[in-house]
Amino acid sequence: MADTAKLELEGTIVELPIVVGTENEKGVDITHLYGTTGYVTLDPGYANTGACKSAITFIDGDQGILRYRGYDIAELCEKSTFMEVCYLLIYGELPTPDQFSAFKERVLRHSLIHEDMKSFFTSYPGHAHPMAILSAMVCSLSVYHPELLAPNPTPREMDQTITRLLSKVRVLAAFAYKRSVGEAFVYSRPELDYLSNFMHMMFTTPMNPYEPNEVIRKALDVLFILHADHEQNCSTSTVRMVGSSKANLFASISAGICALWGPLHGGANQMVIEMLEAIAEDDCNYKKYIDKAKDKNDPFKLMGFGHRVYKNYDPRATILKKYCDDVLNQLGIHDPILDIAKELEEVALTDSYFIERKLYPNVDFYSGILYRAMCIPTNMFTVMFALGRLPGWIAHWKEMIEEPGMRIARPRQIYDGSPVRSYVPPNQRPSPA
Ligand code: CMC
Repeated sequence: MADTAKLELEGTIVELPIVVGTENEKGVDITHLYGTTGYVTLDPGYANTGACKSAITFIDGDQGILRYRGYDIAELCEKSTFMEVCYLLIYGELPTPDQFSAFKERVLRHSLIHEDMKSFFTSYPGHAHPMAILSAMVCSLSVYHPELLAPNPTPREMDQTITRLLSKVRVLAAFAYKRSVGEAFVYSRPELDYLSNFMHMMFTTPMNPYEPNEVIRKALDVLFILHADHEQNCSTSTVRMVGSSKANLFASISAGICALWGPLHGGANQMVIEMLEAIAEDDCNYKKYIDKAKDKNDPFKLMGFGHRVYKNYDPRATILKKYCDDVLNQLGIHDPILDIAKELEEVALTDSYFIERKLYPNVDFYSGILYRAMCIPTNMFTVMFALGRLPGWIAHWKEMIEEPGMRIARPRQIYDGSPVRSYVPPNQRPSPA
């Protein structure tokens, strides 16, 4: 294979280096294109743009492959834990037993937030969306840890920031929930593991302590492992974009949380359940919703379907679909919404519109059903996604900050507005049509 690509611009041939990744993914390096030719590339939505090199996650969207640091997602779900995956993503290797104990101990040690922060929660109206609260609170952590805001953190400062954030985000998420249901805040218990502690802070009340449940803990482990990273998605790219200005980790992650909230990204898990409930109330009229999704004059989309990268079944959805049956059976729950989801999927996957466009269920299609089974309220689903995605965001921020010669992210544009014109005084301006 040639190691350069040739591009002809105004009769001049420009040679551009070819870059090949570990798994033989090929790219054309245009780093010097503008400097040598004055041309930029135009790629709305960045569908063809590799914004960085990264050693964290590999996806093959045609084959339906997802690997973290080289490990297949299905194997990690079966054999690993979310905490171990956090370590793997952030530090690059599976931890030794000693490294893992020290890491868990560091995360556990920081599971308190400054007492003053509690008053922020009570200032929000009870109906506030927990994603709004979570993003504001994560950014507010920077106020309470001014010692951790160095634009060029040492490895020690970086570790301190990372472990504090990993630990405290759970507390902030649980407190946001407690605020929304008007219950007292609950502190973590040192003897509980990371995820059981989160469930305890969510569901313990003064009258009724939460009893950790192994089926739920394992299900959360799998869900969070599946959410943990997905290379350059919208929220991760946002974290990188904000972090590239040397904004601190708390601010960068807060921005990522906002990006995740959108219904085309992590917010889809809430929308999927709302859509399935609407279909249930509409006498399970699947055809009506499929027709709406296909209608170009209707903004409705089949939520939980389609993906920028996967043109095959999303491997995360494959795992979750099977897992839904297992977990609901073990918990003795029959959720008619699961039946509706499966039937809707069957109808969509035999419809030529979805077949031609290679639209398959994505991770959000089945995740909400599991969260429902754990009694997580619908408006907390995207918060759960954020908790799971946290190690991925951190890993990308760390990878970027540590990269020699890192540059601020600053895309260009093709300007298609008005050409230069003279200022018009107010009394001479034409009335709007
Ligand atoms: N329902 C109906 N039509 C769809 C859907 C859908 N869910 N998704 C894509 N299409 C159509 C789209 O209208 C377009 O049709 P045409 O070629 O006729 O114009 C074609 O399929 C290609 O779609 P696209 O919009 O160009 O794809 P994209 O890569 O820009 O968008 C997506 C990807 C995930 C935003 C989109 O599929 C979507 O909006 N899905 C529903 C929201 C959702 O489930 N989001 C969660 C994504 S997975 C979790 C995560 O990583 O955040």
